[in-house]
Amino acid sequence: MSGRLDQYRLFWREFRQTFETTGAVAPSGRALCRELARHVTGNGQPRRVLEVGPGTGVVTDQIIARLGPEDTLDLVELNDRFVELLRQRLAEEPSWQAVAERVQIHHKPVQDLSAETPYDAIVSGLPLNNFPADLVAEILAKLHELAADGATLSFFEYVAVRKAKALVSRGDQRRRLLGIETHISNARKQWGCGRRCILANLPPAWVHHLRFGG
Ligand SMILES: C[S@@+](CC[C@H](N)C(=O)[O-])C[C@H]1O[C@@H](n2cnc3c(N)ncnc32)[C@H](O)[C@@H]1O
Repeated sequence: MSGRLDQYRLFWREFRQTFETTGAVAPSGRALCRELARHVTGNGQPRRVLEVGPGTGVVTDQIIARLGPEDTLDLVELNDRFVELLRQRLAEEPSWQAVAERVQIHHKPVQDLSAETPYDAIVSGLPLNNFPADLVAEILAKLHELAADGATLSFFEYVAVRKAKALVSRGDQRRRLLGIETHISNARKQWGCGRRCILANLPPAWVHHLRFGG
């Protein structure tokens, strides 16, 4: 299975079966994928790129198109069905086959990923708003740990969703959403290097870009 329609079907099925980790009804739209891959740009040096939560690989398509000849790409994905599809795409799709030797798939949650050599660019598709606030803090700290000095982290969130939900929630749910808000805004205050609103996505999304280090 590797046609676009099959990929949408798989995503929808995973949304219904694993809502908390899949977090969206369909893969990200093209404009959002392009913005997420914005900092995967060559500077002549070989670069190590990490994508967290590639799902069916729509952002991966954009990353692959930007890889320099000596760049490497690591994909970390916890969902069995998505991992199977990603492996299939690497084996069968010409643009993926062309870089397959430089791509590694890690079938695990990003929290368990260890990297001896840090990454120069990290792109995350994780649905942070679905997670407990402590897990969001843990994941942001992990991504920082995995990043080289000066590395970028690009991630997205749907516009206004967290704030709107927090307004109408009570108790633990409200505390969870406010906790996530705090962790994301602290990270943006410390390392934010830009953000862009992608209106041409359903729903519209903010892409946040961070640059770690000095
Ligand atoms: C909102 S989907 C994004 C998929 C794709 N990047 C896109 O934009 O269409 C979130 C993805 O993150 C994966 N995921 C969720 N939690 C994860 C974790 N802790 N570590 C690695 N992948 C995770 C899910 O399985 C899913 O593929």
